Amino acid sequence: MKLLITGGAGFIGSHVVRLFVTKYPEYQIYNLDKLTYAGNLANLSDIENAPNYTFIKGDITDAKFLEDMFAEIPFDGVIHLAAESHVDRSITDPMSFVMTNVVGTVNLLNAAKNSWQANGAGGTSAFDGKRFYHVSTDEVYGSLHNPDEFFLETTPYDPQSPYSASKAASDHFVRAYGNTYKMPVVLSNCSNNYGPNHFPEKLIPLMIHNIQTNKPLPVYGKGENVRDWLFVVDHARAIDTVFHKGVLGETYNIGGFNEWKNIDIVHLLCATMDRKLGRPEGTSAKLITYVTDRAGHDLRYAIDANKIMNELGWQPSLQFEEGLEKTVDWFLANQEWLDNVTSGAYQTYYQGMYANR
Ligand code: NAD
Ligand code: TYD
Repeated sequence: MKLLITGGAGFIGSHVVRLFVTKYPEYQIYNLDKLTYAGNLANLSDIENAPNYTFIKGDITDAKFLEDMFAEIPFDGVIHLAAESHVDRSITDPMSFVMTNVVGTVNLLNAAKNSWQANGAGGTSAFDGKRFYHVSTDEVYGSLHNPDEFFLETTPYDPQSPYSASKAASDHFVRAYGNTYKMPVVLSNCSNNYGPNHFPEKLIPLMIHNIQTNKPLPVYGKGENVRDWLFVVDHARAIDTVFHKGVLGETYNIGGFNEWKNIDIVHLLCATMDRKLGRPEGTSAKLITYVTDRAGHDLRYAIDANKIMNELGWQPSLQFEEGLEKTVDWFLANQEWLDNVTSGAYQTYYQGMYANR
């Protein structure tokens, strides 16, 4: 099995690469990543010399590069995670989301389809044994307002941000290639992830970093927006499950049945950090600062993950409090990693996003 994983130097991708490299020594794992601000080879330093692992630097918006790579390496499977992933950045620069998430995904579909057809027996049997797995988000379903509602695989798409619109478009293309060319596609849509290696532009690692450095904790709006949080290693385990057991053409929602209001998470993080840093109780919570809300801010995401649990036998392994504790411990033990990703361009980003908010 020659398996291409895109975006493997990013947050979730690095956990997926590690899981596959260590669990399947008989597979050859190729990690294709552009190494944008979010891509970091330090995330994979523990497995970089594994005999079944190869890193390829490249950009999925470059169709020729992808065609050449597929001509050179006969991939059997693709797990596609490369994307622009941050909603706030999509509000200031939507076009880079169109390019990577939409055009990049279609380029990848074309490269896989063309090489599998060229090397195959002809007709749809060219796809025998092949698999194209597209990793997506629950944000494509839009925002929930009724507390009894959950996102199901059948929930109509209703993306509300440039990020979620670009992911929705990419999902549509993947399904269209499955329908039109009979490509062997499978998809999953996951809720918010958290854990080690999370880039500190996202809520949880940003708050950990700001608590540590005594900076204001910028809570958007009233802090009442709700997200469903899943430990990143549990998402990687779900991706392993869907890749190997998922039925072609199907979509699987992945989530932790773990809804939290943002402000409650920030308070939990403050209490955890006070304890870990030996600060008097209540110290970090004084840093909480309510700031101007995100434009078009989705109120609530909540996943119904019964399909993957019942049909494929996956379930989350960690409770949130335990996962958050592990996450905080990882950030405190990996100061050099955090220092490296919060220097330079991050400071410019942070100033632009938060200085006059
Ligand atoms: P991330 O931003 O941490 O990592 C994205 C990776 O993609 C980086 O390594 C980056 O260098 C790479 N990349 C970006 N543009 C590229 C390009 N043009 N060519 C090649 N590589 C490129 O993202 P993440 O949080 O790890 O998310 C991974 C995937 O999972 C995304 O598709 C995202 O939509 C999806 N997802 C994320 C979450 C979440 O909570 N973070 C939840 C559900 C789904
Ligand atoms: P984020 O981590 O950006 O994930 P997403 O928007 O994809 O769900 O944000 C999670 C929630 O936290 C979201 O409701 C926005 C909010 N948030 C803040 O209140 N302050 C912040 O500084 C950030 C980054 C997010």
